[in-house]
Amino acid sequence: MYLSFTVLCLSVVINNAAASEWCYTGCEHTPSHWKDLDGSHCGGERQSPVDIVSGHLERDEKLLNFNFFNFTSKQSFKAFINNGHTAKFLLEDNEVELSGGGLDGAYSTLQLHFHWGDTVHHPGSEHTVNGHRYPMEMHIVNLKKGLTVEQALQDPTGIAVLGFFIDATEDENLSSPWSVLTSYLLSDIDTEINVIHDISINDLIGDVDLTKYYRYMGSLTTPSCNEVVAWTVFQEPIIVNRILLQQFPLKTGLTNVYRPGQEINGRQVYSSAAVDLPSSHEWCYGEECEFSPPNWHLLPDSQCGGQRQSPVNIEAQNATKEAKLDGFTFTKFDDKQVIKYITNTGHTVKFVLNEGAMEVSGGGLGHIYTTLQFHFHWGSLSPDSKGSEHTIDSKRFPMEVHIVNKRKDLTLENAVNTTNGLAVMGLFIEATTTTKSGGSSDHNEDSHDSADDSTHESSDNVMTGAWKVLSNYLEQIQSIGSQVEVTEDLSLAELLGHVNLGSYYRYNGSLTTPSCNEAVVWTVFKESIKVHPKLLMMFPNQTGFQDVFRPTQDLHSRKIYTTAGVGTLAPIVQSLLLIYFCSFIL
Ligand SMILES: *[C@@H]1O[C@H](CO)[C@@H](O)[C@H](O)[C@H]1NC(C)=O
Ligand SMILES: *[C@@H]1O[C@H](CO)[C@@H](O)[C@H](O)[C@H]1NC(C)=O
Ligand SMILES: [Zn+2]
Ligand SMILES: [Zn+2]
Repeated sequence: MYLSFTVLCLSVVINNAAASEWCYTGCEHTPSHWKDLDGSHCGGERQSPVDIVSGHLERDEKLLNFNFFNFTSKQSFKAFINNGHTAKFLLEDNEVELSGGGLDGAYSTLQLHFHWGDTVHHPGSEHTVNGHRYPMEMHIVNLKKGLTVEQALQDPTGIAVLGFFIDATEDENLSSPWSVLTSYLLSDIDTEINVIHDISINDLIGDVDLTKYYRYMGSLTTPSCNEVVAWTVFQEPIIVNRILLQQFPLKTGLTNVYRPGQEINGRQVYSSAAVDLPSSHEWCYGEECEFSPPNWHLLPDSQCGGQRQSPVNIEAQNATKEAKLDGFTFTKFDDKQVIKYITNTGHTVKFVLNEGAMEVSGGGLGHIYTTLQFHFHWGSLSPDSKGSEHTIDSKRFPMEVHIVNKRKDLTLENAVNTTNGLAVMGLFIEATTTTKSGGSSDHNEDSHDSADDSTHESSDNVMTGAWKVLSNYLEQIQSIGSQVEVTEDLSLAELLGHVNLGSYYRYNGSLTTPSCNEAVVWTVFKESIKVHPKLLMMFPNQTGFQDVFRPTQDLHSRKIYTTAGVGTLAPIVQSLLLIYFCSFIL
Protein backbone atom coordinates (compact mmCIF):
# COMPACT_ATOMS: atom_id res chain seq x y z
CA MET A 1 0.00 0.00 0.00
CA TYR A 2 2.69 2.43 1.05
CA LEU A 3 4.85 1.35 -1.85
CA SER A 4 2.22 1.82 -4.54
CA PHE A 5 1.46 5.28 -3.17
CA THR A 6 5.12 6.23 -3.56
CA VAL A 7 5.19 4.91 -7.11
CA LEU A 8 2.09 6.93 -7.93
CA CYS A 9 3.63 10.07 -6.43
CA LEU A 10 6.83 9.51 -8.30
CA SER A 11 5.08 9.07 -11.60
CA VAL A 12 3.15 12.29 -11.06
CA VAL A 13 6.40 14.10 -10.27
CA ILE A 14 8.09 12.64 -13.32
CA ASN A 15 5.20 13.62 -15.57
CA ASN A 16 5.25 17.15 -14.23
CA ALA A 17 8.99 17.38 -14.70
CA ALA A 18 8.64 16.17 -18.28
CA ALA A 19 5.84 18.61 -18.96
CA SER A 20 7.80 21.64 -17.87
CA GLU A 21 11.05 20.51 -19.45
CA TRP A 22 10.12 21.55 -22.95
CA CYS A 23 9.97 24.98 -24.51
CA TYR A 24 9.90 26.79 -27.85
CA THR A 25 13.18 28.64 -27.23
CA GLY A 26 15.67 29.03 -24.42
CA CYS A 27 15.84 25.55 -22.84
CA GLU A 28 17.38 22.19 -23.59
CA HIS A 29 14.27 20.68 -25.17
CA THR A 30 13.42 23.05 -28.02
CA PRO A 31 11.13 21.64 -30.78
CA SER A 32 13.85 19.67 -32.54
CA HIS A 33 14.57 17.89 -29.23
CA TRP A 34 11.00 17.23 -28.15
CA LYS A 35 11.36 13.71 -29.52
CA ASP A 36 13.92 12.98 -26.79
CA LEU A 37 11.46 13.64 -23.95
CA ASP A 38 10.15 10.68 -21.95
CA GLY A 39 7.13 9.05 -23.61
CA SER A 40 7.33 11.44 -26.55
CA HIS A 41 5.69 10.79 -29.90
CA CYS A 42 7.19 13.98 -31.37
CA GLY A 43 9.50 12.06 -33.70
CA GLY A 44 6.60 10.18 -35.29
CA GLU A 45 5.30 10.03 -38.85
CA ARG A 46 1.95 11.84 -38.50
CA GLN A 47 3.00 15.00 -36.73
CA SER A 48 1.45 18.44 -36.75
CA PRO A 49 1.45 21.23 -37.81
CA VAL A 50 2.04 20.94 -41.58
CA ASP A 51 2.23 23.24 -44.58
CA ILE A 52 -1.01 22.98 -46.56
CA VAL A 53 -0.13 22.97 -50.25
CA SER A 54 -3.14 23.98 -52.32
CA GLY A 55 -1.84 22.20 -55.42
CA HIS A 56 -1.81 18.89 -53.48
CA LEU A 57 -5.28 19.13 -51.94
CA GLU A 58 -7.88 16.53 -52.73
CA ARG A 59 -11.52 17.45 -52.45
CA ASP A 60 -13.58 15.14 -50.21
CA GLU A 61 -17.30 15.48 -50.94
CA LYS A 62 -18.08 13.93 -47.54
CA LEU A 63 -16.56 16.90 -45.71
CA LEU A 64 -19.81 18.79 -45.25
CA ASN A 65 -21.17 21.14 -42.59
CA PHE A 66 -20.42 20.82 -38.90
CA ASN A 67 -23.10 20.81 -36.22
CA PHE A 68 -22.10 23.14 -33.42
CA PHE A 69 -23.88 23.03 -30.07
CA ASN A 70 -23.73 25.99 -27.70
CA PHE A 71 -21.04 27.78 -29.74
CA THR A 72 -23.28 30.80 -29.21
CA SER A 73 -23.57 30.27 -25.46
CA LYS A 74 -22.23 33.34 -23.62
CA GLN A 75 -21.69 31.33 -20.42
CA SER A 76 -19.34 28.72 -21.87
CA PHE A 77 -16.03 30.32 -20.84
CA LYS A 78 -14.89 29.17 -17.40
CA ALA A 79 -11.34 30.32 -16.72
CA PHE A 80 -8.13 31.73 -18.18
CA ILE A 81 -4.72 30.27 -17.53
CA ASN A 82 -1.21 31.12 -18.75
CA ASN A 83 0.51 27.72 -18.53
CA GLY A 84 3.93 29.04 -19.55
CA HIS A 85 3.50 27.81 -23.14
CA THR A 86 0.27 29.43 -24.25
CA ALA A 87 -2.77 31.45 -23.23
CA LYS A 88 -5.57 28.95 -22.58
CA PHE A 89 -9.29 29.41 -21.94
CA LEU A 90 -11.03 26.52 -20.21
CA LEU A 91 -14.67 25.91 -21.05
CA GLU A 92 -17.50 24.77 -18.80
CA ASP A 93 -17.73 20.97 -18.68
CA ASN A 94 -20.21 19.30 -21.03
CA GLU A 95 -21.56 22.56 -22.35
CA VAL A 96 -20.11 22.93 -25.85
CA GLU A 97 -20.16 20.17 -28.44
CA LEU A 98 -19.68 19.50 -32.11
CA SER A 99 -20.26 16.76 -34.68
CA GLY A 100 -20.55 16.42 -38.43
CA GLY A 101 -17.86 17.89 -40.66
CA GLY A 102 -16.82 14.38 -41.62
CA LEU A 103 -15.75 13.66 -38.02
CA ASP A 104 -16.07 10.28 -36.36
CA GLY A 105 -19.04 11.01 -34.05
CA ALA A 106 -19.60 13.74 -31.49
CA TYR A 107 -16.87 15.62 -29.63
CA SER A 108 -17.05 17.65 -26.45
CA THR A 109 -15.19 20.98 -26.44
CA LEU A 110 -12.64 21.34 -23.62
CA GLN A 111 -10.56 24.46 -24.15
CA LEU A 112 -9.18 26.89 -26.64
CA HIS A 113 -5.70 28.37 -26.83
CA PHE A 114 -3.48 30.36 -29.14
CA HIS A 115 -0.19 30.31 -31.02
CA TRP A 116 1.62 33.51 -31.97
CA GLY A 117 4.93 35.09 -32.92
CA ASP A 118 6.43 38.22 -31.47
CA THR A 119 5.66 41.91 -31.38
CA VAL A 120 7.75 42.95 -34.36
CA HIS A 121 6.07 41.55 -37.45
CA HIS A 122 7.06 37.95 -36.89
CA PRO A 123 3.99 35.83 -37.57
CA GLY A 124 3.26 32.74 -35.49
CA SER A 125 0.50 30.49 -36.84
CA GLU A 126 1.36 26.79 -36.64
CA HIS A 127 -0.14 25.65 -39.94
CA THR A 128 0.92 27.49 -43.07
CA VAL A 129 -0.71 27.64 -46.52
CA ASN A 130 1.73 27.44 -49.44
CA GLY A 131 4.38 28.64 -47.04
CA HIS A 132 2.31 31.60 -45.84
CA ARG A 133 2.36 31.97 -42.06
CA TYR A 134 -0.52 33.96 -40.59
CA PRO A 135 0.03 36.23 -37.57
CA MET A 136 -1.73 33.84 -35.14
CA GLU A 137 -3.70 30.59 -34.87
CA MET A 138 -6.49 29.62 -32.47
CA HIS A 139 -7.02 25.96 -31.51
CA ILE A 140 -10.33 24.71 -30.20
CA VAL A 141 -9.65 21.32 -28.59
CA ASN A 142 -12.38 18.67 -28.52
CA LEU A 143 -12.50 15.22 -26.91
CA LYS A 144 -14.38 12.32 -28.48
CA LYS A 145 -17.55 11.81 -26.43
CA GLY A 146 -17.58 8.81 -24.15
CA LEU A 147 -13.78 8.69 -23.84
CA THR A 148 -11.59 9.81 -20.97
CA VAL A 149 -8.52 11.87 -21.90
CA GLU A 150 -6.36 8.77 -21.31
CA GLN A 151 -8.54 6.71 -23.66
CA ALA A 152 -8.55 9.46 -26.26
CA LEU A 153 -4.75 9.47 -26.28
CA GLN A 154 -4.95 5.84 -27.50
CA ASP A 155 -7.50 6.52 -30.26
CA PRO A 156 -6.28 7.74 -33.67
CA THR A 157 -9.19 10.19 -33.78
CA GLY A 158 -9.62 10.61 -30.02
CA ILE A 159 -9.19 14.37 -30.28
CA ALA A 160 -10.50 16.82 -32.89
CA VAL A 161 -8.85 20.22 -33.05
CA LEU A 162 -10.34 23.14 -34.96
CA GLY A 163 -7.63 25.50 -36.18
CA PHE A 164 -8.45 29.08 -37.11
CA PHE A 165 -5.92 31.39 -38.73
CA ILE A 166 -5.97 34.91 -37.35
CA ASP A 167 -5.07 37.82 -39.60
CA ALA A 168 -4.32 41.37 -38.47
CA THR A 169 -6.21 44.43 -39.63
CA GLU A 170 -5.31 48.06 -39.03
CA ASP A 171 -9.04 48.75 -38.86
CA GLU A 172 -9.68 50.78 -35.73
CA ASN A 173 -12.76 48.74 -34.83
CA LEU A 174 -11.41 47.08 -31.68
CA SER A 175 -14.12 44.46 -31.89
CA SER A 176 -15.45 43.84 -28.42
CA PRO A 177 -15.30 40.02 -28.03
CA TRP A 178 -11.56 40.14 -28.72
CA SER A 179 -11.04 43.11 -26.40
CA VAL A 180 -12.83 41.16 -23.68
CA LEU A 181 -10.78 38.05 -24.36
CA THR A 182 -7.43 39.86 -24.39
CA SER A 183 -8.30 41.69 -21.17
CA TYR A 184 -7.75 38.34 -19.37
CA LEU A 185 -4.22 37.81 -20.69
CA LEU A 186 -1.72 37.74 -17.86
CA SER A 187 1.96 36.87 -17.36
CA ASP A 188 1.47 35.04 -14.04
CA ILE A 189 2.05 31.38 -14.78
CA ASP A 190 -0.41 28.67 -13.69
CA THR A 191 -2.81 31.12 -12.02
CA GLU A 192 -6.40 30.34 -12.94
CA ILE A 193 -8.65 33.37 -13.36
CA ASN A 194 -12.40 33.02 -13.59
CA VAL A 195 -13.99 34.45 -16.71
CA ILE A 196 -16.89 36.64 -15.64
CA HIS A 197 -17.74 38.33 -18.94
CA ASP A 198 -20.34 37.10 -21.40
CA ILE A 199 -18.46 35.70 -24.32
CA SER A 200 -19.15 32.94 -26.82
CA ILE A 201 -16.99 30.96 -29.21
CA ASN A 202 -19.06 32.28 -32.12
CA ASP A 203 -18.28 35.85 -31.05
CA LEU A 204 -14.60 35.09 -31.58
CA ILE A 205 -15.04 33.26 -34.87
CA GLY A 206 -17.04 36.10 -36.40
CA ASP A 207 -18.07 35.56 -40.01
CA VAL A 208 -15.52 32.92 -41.02
CA ASP A 209 -17.17 30.51 -43.49
CA LEU A 210 -17.28 27.29 -41.43
CA THR A 211 -18.01 25.12 -44.47
CA LYS A 212 -14.57 25.83 -46.00
CA TYR A 213 -11.89 23.81 -44.29
CA TYR A 214 -8.96 21.42 -44.68
CA ARG A 215 -8.78 18.02 -42.98
CA TYR A 216 -5.86 15.74 -42.24
CA MET A 217 -4.73 13.28 -39.59
CA GLY A 218 -2.03 14.57 -37.27
CA SER A 219 -0.90 15.05 -33.72
CA LEU A 220 -0.96 17.36 -30.75
CA THR A 221 1.52 20.16 -31.51
CA THR A 222 3.03 20.17 -28.01
CA PRO A 223 4.75 17.30 -26.15
CA SER A 224 3.97 14.45 -25.98
CA CYS A 225 2.73 15.10 -29.57
CA ASN A 226 0.32 12.13 -29.42
CA GLU A 227 -0.80 11.11 -32.91
CA VAL A 228 -4.51 11.17 -32.07
CA VAL A 229 -5.82 14.34 -33.74
CA ALA A 230 -8.31 14.73 -36.58
CA TRP A 231 -7.32 18.22 -37.71
CA THR A 232 -9.69 20.80 -39.16
CA VAL A 233 -8.04 23.99 -40.41
CA PHE A 234 -10.45 26.62 -41.68
CA GLN A 235 -9.53 28.37 -44.91
CA GLU A 236 -10.72 31.86 -44.03
CA PRO A 237 -8.86 33.70 -41.28
CA ILE A 238 -10.50 35.48 -38.36
CA ILE A 239 -9.72 39.19 -38.77
CA VAL A 240 -8.67 40.97 -35.57
CA ASN A 241 -7.22 44.40 -34.93
CA ARG A 242 -3.41 44.37 -34.80
CA ILE A 243 -3.30 46.17 -31.45
CA LEU A 244 -5.36 43.40 -29.85
CA LEU A 245 -3.15 40.68 -31.36
CA GLN A 246 -0.09 42.39 -29.90
CA GLN A 247 -1.60 41.88 -26.45
CA PHE A 248 -0.78 38.16 -26.64
CA PRO A 249 3.03 38.52 -26.55
CA LEU A 250 2.94 41.75 -24.55
CA LYS A 251 0.68 40.67 -21.71
CA THR A 252 1.71 37.01 -21.41
CA GLY A 253 5.45 37.57 -21.76
CA LEU A 254 5.53 34.59 -24.16
CA THR A 255 6.84 34.96 -27.72
CA ASN A 256 7.09 32.69 -30.75
CA VAL A 257 4.93 29.97 -29.21
CA TYR A 258 4.43 27.83 -32.29
CA ARG A 259 5.90 24.54 -33.43
CA PRO A 260 7.65 24.56 -36.84
CA GLY A 261 6.03 22.69 -39.74
CA GLN A 262 6.42 18.90 -39.77
CA GLU A 263 6.94 16.45 -42.63
CA ILE A 264 3.75 15.41 -44.39
CA ASN A 265 5.16 11.86 -44.92
CA GLY A 266 2.73 10.93 -47.66
CA ARG A 267 -0.39 12.02 -45.79
CA GLN A 268 -3.23 13.48 -47.86
CA VAL A 269 -4.74 16.82 -46.89
CA TYR A 270 -8.39 17.00 -47.97
CA SER A 271 -10.45 20.08 -48.68
CA SER A 272 -14.11 20.29 -47.75
CA ALA A 273 -16.77 20.22 -50.46
CA ALA A 274 -17.26 24.00 -50.18
CA VAL A 275 -13.62 25.01 -50.78
CA ASP A 276 -13.19 26.45 -54.26
CA LEU A 277 -10.06 24.98 -55.69
CA PRO A 278 -9.13 28.01 -57.79
CA SER A 279 -7.56 27.90 -61.19
CA SER A 280 -4.34 29.84 -61.42
CA HIS A 281 -5.73 32.75 -63.44
CA GLU A 282 -8.50 33.77 -61.00
CA TRP A 283 -6.51 36.48 -59.24
CA CYS A 284 -6.74 40.24 -59.22
CA TYR A 285 -5.26 43.30 -57.55
CA GLY A 286 -8.47 44.74 -56.10
CA GLU A 287 -11.41 43.43 -54.12
CA GLU A 288 -13.37 42.36 -57.20
CA CYS A 289 -12.32 38.73 -56.96
CA GLU A 290 -11.71 36.14 -54.25
CA PHE A 291 -7.96 36.01 -54.81
CA SER A 292 -6.80 39.55 -54.05
CA PRO A 293 -3.11 39.97 -53.03
CA PRO A 294 -3.54 38.82 -49.39
CA ASN A 295 -5.04 35.56 -50.74
CA TRP A 296 -2.61 34.90 -53.59
CA HIS A 297 -0.86 32.31 -51.44
CA LEU A 298 -4.02 30.14 -51.67
CA LEU A 299 -3.70 29.73 -55.45
CA PRO A 300 -2.45 26.37 -56.77
CA ASP A 301 1.35 26.00 -56.92
CA SER A 302 1.63 29.45 -55.42
CA GLN A 303 4.87 30.66 -53.90
CA CYS A 304 3.24 33.98 -52.96
CA GLY A 305 3.46 33.16 -49.23
CA GLY A 306 7.24 32.64 -49.31
CA GLN A 307 10.09 34.45 -47.62
CA ARG A 308 11.71 36.15 -50.64
CA GLN A 309 8.76 37.89 -52.24
CA SER A 310 8.64 41.02 -54.38
CA PRO A 311 8.15 43.94 -54.59
CA VAL A 312 9.82 45.43 -51.51
CA ASN A 313 10.39 48.83 -50.06
CA ILE A 314 14.02 49.86 -50.56
CA GLU A 315 15.54 51.90 -47.76
CA ALA A 316 18.22 53.78 -49.64
CA GLN A 317 20.43 54.41 -46.60
CA ASN A 318 20.38 50.77 -45.54
CA ALA A 319 21.43 49.34 -48.91
CA THR A 320 24.87 47.71 -48.79
CA LYS A 321 27.43 49.01 -51.29
CA GLU A 322 28.74 46.17 -53.45
CA ALA A 323 31.70 46.70 -55.79
CA LYS A 324 30.79 43.61 -57.86
CA LEU A 325 27.73 45.42 -59.19
CA ASP A 326 29.29 46.74 -62.37
CA GLY A 327 27.82 48.01 -65.63
CA PHE A 328 25.42 45.94 -67.74
CA THR A 329 26.06 44.90 -71.29
CA PHE A 330 22.91 45.30 -73.33
CA THR A 331 22.73 43.67 -76.74
CA LYS A 332 20.27 44.97 -79.33
CA PHE A 333 18.34 47.13 -76.89
CA ASP A 334 18.41 49.78 -79.63
CA ASP A 335 17.09 47.39 -82.28
CA LYS A 336 13.82 48.87 -83.55
CA GLN A 337 12.40 45.62 -84.91
CA VAL A 338 12.64 43.25 -81.92
CA ILE A 339 9.19 43.95 -80.46
CA LYS A 340 6.79 41.34 -81.82
CA TYR A 341 3.40 42.27 -80.38
CA ILE A 342 1.64 44.13 -77.58
CA THR A 343 -1.16 42.55 -75.56
CA ASN A 344 -3.68 43.49 -72.89
CA THR A 345 -3.56 40.58 -70.42
CA GLY A 346 -6.27 41.93 -68.12
CA HIS A 347 -3.58 42.53 -65.49
CA THR A 348 -1.06 44.57 -67.50
CA VAL A 349 0.05 45.73 -70.92
CA LYS A 350 2.83 43.52 -72.17
CA PHE A 351 5.29 43.94 -75.04
CA VAL A 352 6.55 40.57 -76.23
CA LEU A 353 9.92 40.41 -78.00
CA ASN A 354 11.35 38.12 -80.64
CA GLU A 355 13.06 35.64 -78.40
CA GLY A 356 16.82 35.50 -78.61
CA ALA A 357 17.23 38.94 -80.13
CA MET A 358 17.92 41.04 -77.04
CA GLU A 359 20.36 40.02 -74.32
CA VAL A 360 21.71 41.40 -71.10
CA SER A 361 24.78 40.40 -69.08
CA GLY A 362 27.23 41.96 -66.64
CA GLY A 363 25.77 44.01 -63.81
CA GLY A 364 26.86 41.35 -61.31
CA LEU A 365 24.36 38.87 -62.82
CA GLY A 366 26.96 36.21 -63.57
CA HIS A 367 24.99 34.78 -66.50
CA ILE A 368 23.78 35.85 -69.92
CA TYR A 369 20.03 36.53 -69.93
CA THR A 370 17.66 36.70 -72.90
CA THR A 371 15.02 39.44 -72.81
CA LEU A 372 11.49 38.03 -73.13
CA GLN A 373 9.09 40.90 -72.57
CA PHE A 374 8.46 44.15 -70.80
CA HIS A 375 5.26 45.29 -69.11
CA PHE A 376 3.92 48.04 -66.88
CA HIS A 377 2.43 48.65 -63.43
CA TRP A 378 0.31 51.74 -62.86
CA GLY A 379 -2.17 53.48 -60.59
CA SER A 380 -5.48 55.23 -61.11
CA LEU A 381 -6.85 57.99 -63.32
CA SER A 382 -6.13 60.65 -60.73
CA PRO A 383 -3.40 63.09 -61.86
CA ASP A 384 -1.24 62.41 -58.80
CA SER A 385 -1.82 58.65 -58.77
CA LYS A 386 1.02 56.33 -57.75
CA GLY A 387 1.27 52.78 -59.07
CA SER A 388 4.87 51.57 -58.95
CA GLU A 389 5.50 48.22 -57.26
CA HIS A 390 8.82 48.95 -55.57
CA THR A 391 9.02 51.95 -53.30
CA ILE A 392 12.12 53.91 -52.27
CA ASP A 393 12.07 55.05 -48.65
CA SER A 394 8.33 54.29 -48.74
CA LYS A 395 7.84 56.65 -51.69
CA ARG A 396 5.74 55.17 -54.50
CA PHE A 397 6.26 56.42 -58.06
CA PRO A 398 3.52 56.94 -60.68
CA MET A 399 4.48 53.86 -62.75
CA GLU A 400 7.05 51.10 -63.10
CA VAL A 401 8.18 49.16 -66.16
CA HIS A 402 9.55 45.63 -65.78
CA ILE A 403 11.96 44.17 -68.30
CA VAL A 404 11.85 40.39 -67.88
CA ASN A 405 14.92 38.34 -68.80
CA LYS A 406 15.50 34.58 -68.65
CA ARG A 407 18.83 32.82 -68.19
CA LYS A 408 19.95 31.90 -71.70
CA ASP A 409 21.14 28.42 -70.68
CA LEU A 410 17.77 27.38 -69.17
CA THR A 411 14.33 26.60 -70.57
CA LEU A 412 11.58 28.86 -69.23
CA GLU A 413 10.22 25.97 -67.16
CA ASN A 414 13.60 25.44 -65.51
CA ALA A 415 14.23 29.15 -65.13
CA VAL A 416 11.09 29.77 -63.05
CA ASN A 417 12.26 27.03 -60.68
CA THR A 418 15.85 28.26 -60.33
CA THR A 419 16.81 30.89 -57.75
CA ASN A 420 18.44 33.13 -60.39
CA GLY A 421 16.57 31.79 -63.43
CA LEU A 422 15.07 35.20 -64.17
CA ALA A 423 16.50 38.71 -64.02
CA VAL A 424 13.90 41.45 -63.93
CA MET A 425 14.80 45.12 -64.28
CA GLY A 426 12.47 47.68 -62.81
CA LEU A 427 12.46 51.33 -63.83
CA PHE A 428 10.26 53.97 -62.28
CA ILE A 429 8.31 56.24 -64.60
CA GLU A 430 7.17 59.72 -63.69
CA ALA A 431 5.98 62.85 -65.43
CA THR A 432 8.46 65.34 -66.83
CA THR A 433 8.81 68.30 -64.56
CA THR A 434 8.05 71.75 -65.90
CA THR A 435 11.54 73.10 -65.30
CA LYS A 436 13.68 73.90 -68.35
CA SER A 437 16.73 71.95 -67.25
CA GLY A 438 17.22 68.19 -67.21
CA GLY A 439 14.76 65.45 -68.14
CA SER A 440 15.01 63.17 -71.07
CA SER A 441 12.37 64.74 -73.24
CA ASP A 442 12.26 68.23 -71.80
CA HIS A 443 12.53 69.71 -75.28
CA ASN A 444 8.93 68.58 -75.79
CA GLU A 445 7.02 69.74 -72.81
CA ASP A 446 8.73 72.28 -70.62
CA SER A 447 6.95 75.34 -69.25
CA HIS A 448 3.40 74.08 -69.54
CA ASP A 449 1.37 73.19 -66.55
CA SER A 450 -1.56 70.83 -66.73
CA ALA A 451 -4.16 73.60 -66.73
CA ASP A 452 -2.81 74.71 -70.08
CA ASP A 453 -3.15 71.25 -71.57
CA SER A 454 -6.88 71.36 -71.86
CA THR A 455 -7.11 74.82 -73.31
CA HIS A 456 -4.62 74.91 -76.11
CA GLU A 457 -2.60 72.42 -78.02
CA SER A 458 0.83 73.69 -78.87
CA SER A 459 3.51 71.50 -80.32
CA ASP A 460 5.10 71.58 -76.86
CA ASN A 461 2.18 69.62 -75.57
CA VAL A 462 2.20 66.78 -78.03
CA MET A 463 3.84 63.51 -77.23
CA THR A 464 6.63 62.61 -79.58
CA GLY A 465 9.16 59.88 -80.12
CA ALA A 466 9.01 56.34 -78.87
CA TRP A 467 6.42 56.98 -76.16
CA LYS A 468 4.10 58.49 -78.80
CA VAL A 469 4.45 55.27 -80.83
CA LEU A 470 3.73 53.26 -77.71
CA SER A 471 0.63 55.32 -76.92
CA ASN A 472 -0.75 54.67 -80.41
CA TYR A 473 -0.55 50.95 -79.72
CA LEU A 474 -2.24 51.38 -76.34
CA GLU A 475 -5.31 52.71 -78.13
CA GLN A 476 -5.54 49.47 -80.11
CA ILE A 477 -5.69 47.05 -77.18
CA GLN A 478 -8.56 48.36 -75.13
CA SER A 479 -10.27 45.02 -74.61
CA ILE A 480 -8.82 42.33 -72.38
CA GLY A 481 -7.08 39.63 -74.37
CA SER A 482 -6.57 41.83 -77.42
CA GLN A 483 -3.22 41.77 -79.13
CA VAL A 484 -1.67 43.74 -82.00
CA GLU A 485 1.49 43.21 -83.96
CA VAL A 486 4.06 45.95 -83.53
CA THR A 487 5.08 47.05 -87.00
CA GLU A 488 6.31 50.59 -86.34
CA ASP A 489 9.91 51.18 -85.35
CA LEU A 490 10.19 51.03 -81.55
CA SER A 491 13.14 50.11 -79.35
CA LEU A 492 13.56 49.63 -75.65
CA ALA A 493 16.58 51.97 -75.61
CA GLU A 494 14.42 54.80 -76.93
CA LEU A 495 11.81 54.18 -74.22
CA LEU A 496 14.43 54.17 -71.48
CA GLY A 497 15.78 57.51 -72.66
CA HIS A 498 18.75 58.97 -70.81
CA VAL A 499 18.35 56.97 -67.61
CA ASN A 500 21.68 56.17 -65.96
CA LEU A 501 21.78 52.36 -66.19
CA GLY A 502 24.93 52.15 -64.09
CA SER A 503 23.25 53.10 -60.83
CA TYR A 504 20.88 50.56 -59.31
CA TYR A 505 19.74 48.41 -56.36
CA ARG A 506 20.00 44.60 -56.35
CA TYR A 507 18.18 41.97 -54.30
CA ASN A 508 16.86 38.41 -54.53
CA GLY A 509 13.09 38.25 -54.98
CA SER A 510 10.17 36.83 -56.87
CA LEU A 511 7.75 37.43 -59.68
CA THR A 512 5.18 39.97 -58.46
CA THR A 513 2.18 38.14 -59.90
CA PRO A 514 0.98 34.58 -59.11
CA SER A 515 2.59 32.06 -58.86
CA CYS A 516 5.17 34.55 -57.44
CA ASN A 517 8.06 32.17 -58.22
CA GLU A 518 11.10 32.96 -56.11
CA ALA A 519 13.36 32.87 -59.12
CA VAL A 520 14.16 36.51 -59.72
CA VAL A 521 17.34 38.52 -59.37
CA TRP A 522 15.99 42.06 -59.16
CA THR A 523 17.58 45.22 -60.49
CA VAL A 524 15.81 48.46 -59.60
CA PHE A 525 17.34 51.49 -61.25
CA LYS A 526 17.70 54.64 -59.20
CA GLU A 527 16.93 57.12 -61.93
CA SER A 528 13.41 57.25 -63.30
CA ILE A 529 12.16 57.55 -66.86
CA LYS A 530 10.45 60.89 -67.50
CA VAL A 531 7.41 60.89 -69.79
CA HIS A 532 4.64 63.24 -70.82
CA PRO A 533 2.03 63.48 -68.02
CA LYS A 534 -0.72 62.43 -70.44
CA LEU A 535 1.00 59.13 -70.99
CA LEU A 536 0.64 58.13 -67.33
CA MET A 537 -3.11 58.55 -67.66
CA MET A 538 -3.31 56.55 -70.87
CA PHE A 539 -2.61 53.22 -69.18
CA PRO A 540 -5.64 53.21 -66.83
CA ASN A 541 -7.71 55.09 -69.37
CA GLN A 542 -7.18 52.83 -72.41
CA THR A 543 -7.13 49.49 -70.60
CA GLY A 544 -9.97 50.27 -68.21
CA PHE A 545 -8.18 48.79 -65.19
CA GLN A 546 -6.41 50.61 -62.40
CA ASP A 547 -3.97 50.14 -59.55
CA VAL A 548 -2.22 47.13 -61.03
CA PHE A 549 0.54 46.76 -58.49
CA ARG A 550 1.20 44.31 -55.67
CA PRO A 551 1.72 45.74 -52.16
CA THR A 552 5.30 45.61 -50.88
CA GLN A 553 6.34 42.40 -49.15
CA ASP A 554 8.41 41.76 -46.04
CA LEU A 555 12.16 41.63 -46.59
CA HIS A 556 12.56 38.91 -43.94
CA SER A 557 16.30 38.27 -43.72
CA ARG A 558 17.20 39.57 -47.19
CA LYS A 559 19.76 42.26 -47.91
CA ILE A 560 19.52 44.92 -50.58
CA TYR A 561 22.72 45.88 -52.35
CA THR A 562 23.55 49.03 -54.29
CA THR A 563 26.11 49.99 -56.88
CA ALA A 564 29.08 51.58 -55.16
CA GLY A 565 30.05 54.50 -57.38
CA VAL A 566 28.03 57.39 -58.69
CA GLY A 567 26.97 56.83 -62.26
CA THR A 568 29.58 54.31 -63.31
CA LEU A 569 28.60 53.24 -66.79
CA ALA A 570 30.43 50.33 -68.34
CA PRO A 571 32.00 51.24 -71.69
CA ILE A 572 29.78 48.85 -73.62
CA VAL A 573 26.66 50.50 -72.28
CA GLN A 574 27.96 53.90 -73.22
CA SER A 575 28.61 52.83 -76.76
CA LEU A 576 25.11 51.42 -77.09
CA LEU A 577 23.63 54.60 -75.71
CA LEU A 578 25.73 56.51 -78.20
CA ILE A 579 24.17 54.49 -80.99
CA TYR A 580 20.83 55.42 -79.57
CA PHE A 581 21.72 59.13 -79.36
CA CYS A 582 22.82 59.08 -82.97
CA SER A 583 19.69 57.41 -84.24
CA PHE A 584 17.63 59.81 -82.20
CA ILE A 585 19.37 62.85 -83.67
CA LEU A 586 18.96 61.46 -87.17
C1 LIG B 1 -26.00 23.64 -24.05
O1 LIG B 1 -25.95 24.39 -22.85
C2 LIG B 1 -27.03 24.15 -21.98
C3 LIG B 1 -26.94 25.13 -20.81
O2 LIG B 1 -25.73 24.94 -20.13
C4 LIG B 1 -27.02 22.70 -21.54
O3 LIG B 1 -28.13 22.44 -20.69
C5 LIG B 1 -27.09 21.80 -22.76
O4 LIG B 1 -26.95 20.47 -22.38
C6 LIG B 1 -25.98 22.17 -23.75
N1 LIG B 1 -26.19 21.41 -24.96
C7 LIG B 1 -25.31 20.53 -25.42
C8 LIG B 1 -25.68 19.82 -26.67
O5 LIG B 1 -24.23 20.33 -24.88
C1 LIG C 1 20.97 35.76 -53.88
O1 LIG C 1 21.00 34.44 -53.38
C2 LIG C 1 22.21 33.73 -53.66
C3 LIG C 1 22.07 32.36 -53.07
O2 LIG C 1 20.90 31.75 -53.49
C4 LIG C 1 23.41 34.44 -53.08
O3 LIG C 1 24.60 33.77 -53.44
C5 LIG C 1 23.45 35.86 -53.60
O4 LIG C 1 24.51 36.56 -52.96
C6 LIG C 1 22.13 36.56 -53.33
N1 LIG C 1 22.15 37.88 -53.96
C7 LIG C 1 21.70 38.93 -53.35
C8 LIG C 1 21.74 40.19 -54.14
O5 LIG C 1 21.25 38.92 -52.22
ZN1 LIG D 1 -2.39 24.42 -30.18
ZN1 LIG E 1 5.85 43.33 -63.28
